[in-house]
Amino acid sequence: MERALAGLPETKDRNLLVGFNLADDAGVYRISESQALVQTVDFFTPIVDDPYTFGAIAAANALSDVYAMGGQPLTALNIAGFPAGELEPEVLNQILLGGQSKVDEAGCTLVGGHTVQDPELKYGLAITGMIHPDRIYTNAGARPGDRLILTKKLGTGLIANAFKADQLTETDIAEAVESMTTLNKAAAEVLPDFPVHACTDITGFGLLGHAAEMAEGSQAGLIFDTAQIPTLAHSLDLAAQGLGGGSRDNQIFLEPKVSIADSVDEARANLLFDAQTSGGLLIAVAAIAADALLENLRQKGVAAAALIGEVTQDNPGRLLLKP
Ligand code: CO
Ligand code: CO
Ligand code: CO
Repeated sequence: MERALAGLPETKDRNLLVGFNLADDAGVYRISESQALVQTVDFFTPIVDDPYTFGAIAAANALSDVYAMGGQPLTALNIAGFPAGELEPEVLNQILLGGQSKVDEAGCTLVGGHTVQDPELKYGLAITGMIHPDRIYTNAGARPGDRLILTKKLGTGLIANAFKADQLTETDIAEAVESMTTLNKAAAEVLPDFPVHACTDITGFGLLGHAAEMAEGSQAGLIFDTAQIPTLAHSLDLAAQGLGGGSRDNQIFLEPKVSIADSVDEARANLLFDAQTSGGLLIAVAAIAADALLENLRQKGVAAAALIGEVTQDNPGRLLLKP
């Protein structure tokens, strides 16, 4: 991605508060003293068989970037690539209905969309949200001493791939599907009451890829207590066999930035590189408020939320995995 964006002119507009050069979740554009737009787009190929569920996952995933910035989703646009002639129109209809269900749940308004003929089915959304210009959570605010909280279990990439390869059944993946269709809304709504310094959502770069963006943006080190990191059923067994595809790329790309203590379980270490779809929020919060935030998240139904590590002054830009 870095190479694809190389040489693109940097915007000089002073109302662009967060642009693509900061590797953050969404762009933020100020429109008044008290209001800014949060804008993001995400789409991908199906990761489950059921079209309605796929639509719901894609929408939860697209909405997530707005929540990760601290914004409130306002409007949504559908984007679809569809192999007309190969698939029945009802399939697209079910995908759109699934997406709509999550847009509705977010209190967001669907305003339109666009579909193109495409040999490979794809679906996603562009989301616009609102945010106060002084209350944006970027990757850059984590401070030494902060505690790290993760709000969803890891393993959706490994589980989706194993399902595609017929290694897991529909029943095996139910927990992952439930997690991927859950909005980060409840988690995001708790954050304004706490001294949160940085936040991002965990998607294609895996926990450690997004953590590395936070470590670099904040010029701090991040330490992970790997045993505390919540994992989906079957994900550790799968991770023990190693990673493939984009997750393996994450591992290779991040290797120079990650130190792994000898006693860390190898499957667990692998899992932290697994590419997630519609993953949870990674939150850096002042240590004094960490327990209260965790308690509040759980009370609001964010059951998987866990304290998984801390921010250090040492080793800026680097990640350390402890047992
Ligand atoms: Co994101
Ligand atoms: Co995104
Ligand atoms: Co953010």
